[in-house]
Amino acid sequence: MANLKPLVIGNWKMNLDFVEAVHLGQQIGVLLKNRPSEHTEIVVAPPFVDLRSVASIVDSERIPIAVAAQHVNAHENGAHTGEVSTSMLKRLGVTWVLVGHSERRALYAMDDAVVALTLRAAVRSGLKAVLCVGEALEVREDGDQDEWVRHQLRSALDGLDERFTEQITVAYEPIWAIGTGLTADAEQVRAMMTHVRTVLATVKLPDARVLYGGSVNADNAASLVAEGRADGFLVGGASLKAESFLAIIQACDDCYDLKR
Ligand code: 13P
Repeated sequence: MANLKPLVIGNWKMNLDFVEAVHLGQQIGVLLKNRPSEHTEIVVAPPFVDLRSVASIVDSERIPIAVAAQHVNAHENGAHTGEVSTSMLKRLGVTWVLVGHSERRALYAMDDAVVALTLRAAVRSGLKAVLCVGEALEVREDGDQDEWVRHQLRSALDGLDERFTEQITVAYEPIWAIGTGLTADAEQVRAMMTHVRTVLATVKLPDARVLYGGSVNADNAASLVAEGRADGFLVGGASLKAESFLAIIQACDDCYDLKR
């Protein structure tokens, strides 16, 4: 069954120590209490060292959000200095994980094969996984973005056991729009959402939600969800302030009735 509830994920990247992270979690909780999200599912992805504190505060203050990790190692345990496993995350109350964010791919040599392995490890462990895809500026300038994204999707999802399909969300984040203030316009987003959904149908994932990410903010969220037909957002910078994060959630809530 298609899950048409919008989904908004705040990727805090390498920002906020655990005290600041708890504070932001609490601020989000207060704003949600005053103005609850009616339809939109909310997830935050703090740095590893903040996960325990944020998960605790979410649990004890009954804040209606889920907690994601920004990355996970595909191995179960062993000699992987600096890495963290799926079971470690689950013990902390983490239920989601981002897989293959473009910053991991570009800065930490996460190639397609590792992305595929990590995605499988995540869903096998029971975590929900957000597969991140998106092209660099040169690829878009050459007009090759569809082929690029198709390849990233197929290399991660081909042959995935159908038992796990409901645990997968896709986030399309064009690298040229990340942290640059340059957002893809609603037409570009809409074209890519359609393309991604077409590719997902070929790998038996027709119902996965497809998010957009890249300089999403309180001002552009409504048009990206209404005209761009995104199922929600993966938000970086604007998720570090409770007010702008909540404004994005509100925009998704308001557009809920627009079916794709
Ligand atoms: P910005 O919203 O800061 O552009 O970041 C997008 C992103 O990479 C989220 O994962």
